Amino acid sequence: MTLHGRDFLKEADFTPAELDGLLRLAADLKAERRAGREEQRLRGRNIALIFEKTSTRTRTAFEVAMYDQGGHVTVLDPSASQIGHKESIADTARVLTRIYDGIEYRGSAQAVVEELAAYASVPVYNGLTDEWHPTQMLADFLTMREHAQAPEEPLRYCYLGDARSNMGNSLLVMGALMGADVRIVAPRELWPSDDVQTLARQAAHETGAAITLTTEPDEGVPGAEFVHTDVWVSMGEPKDVWADRVEQLRPYRVDTAMMARTGSPTAKFMHCLPAYHDRGTAIGHAIAEDFGLVDGVEVSDEVFESPASIVFDQAENRMHTIKAVLVATLA
Ligand code: CP
Ligand code: NVA
Repeated sequence: MTLHGRDFLKEADFTPAELDGLLRLAADLKAERRAGREEQRLRGRNIALIFEKTSTRTRTAFEVAMYDQGGHVTVLDPSASQIGHKESIADTARVLTRIYDGIEYRGSAQAVVEELAAYASVPVYNGLTDEWHPTQMLADFLTMREHAQAPEEPLRYCYLGDARSNMGNSLLVMGALMGADVRIVAPRELWPSDDVQTLARQAAHETGAAITLTTEPDEGVPGAEFVHTDVWVSMGEPKDVWADRVEQLRPYRVDTAMMARTGSPTAKFMHCLPAYHDRGTAIGHAIAEDFGLVDGVEVSDEVFESPASIVFDQAENRMHTIKAVLVATLA
């Protein structure tokens, strides 16, 4: 697998073999680190991290992955740099290319990270856009592989919730590329766009993946080994969409009864995080007050805290998988 110098912008830019190679490299790097024998392959390398939206996991994963590998990072806060207001993306890309070996970017439109990559001659990494969350997909697939009951069989998972955002799109297309049995369970108006569905169906045709889009939990959830969800309102969306979204997505909330609909006592719960699973955050508290979701919004606290929940394994795997992308593209 040679990914040296490649961008990491969206799942569909990679072949299934390349994605599998990144997952295997991540598993090896994780094992190396755990055994205390990590080799530093990125000494002397520097990358810039640009976050137009907030982040805990993605930022820390990029930072620690680089430090573990002997490299360095600069976090560029757009409000404290020239990006956007005084300097275009094209000029920023050409400046950072002269100073750094790679650039991570989190923002809104996918077109911006694609433009950055078009003008940069070093690898550009998508740390989340409104359309795709490709580094999250590597973590999700590594986590599912680690927890699969029958690792040789295709992964079987469902995603419940707002499916036309980054997580719904990425879980659909990544599953299609990896030959999984993917079920998107959401109200029709929150399904991935026709373009994303077409992309997934084309990939599934090649890989033998099974793609289901349904409005019915009883069609999509039974038999799923993994139940994914995400926040009902994503970063960048206005607050006033909450009322409609709660109305639309209440039937898709992951609670103990929804987990039971898998029919599998070993089914696992997954969430990219952050999650509104109790009243412990400002938004979780406000939504509980306003809409009576006192035990969590998209997921009940009972499920989130249950042994079925593998969300913190998933969060840890952000670091090992981002490290794999960095090593594969920069070492
Ligand atoms: N899952 C994820 O991308 O988390 P952050 O927003 O904290 O980076
Ligand atoms: N869909 C969420 C994912 C956060 C990691 C958002 O974009 O806010």
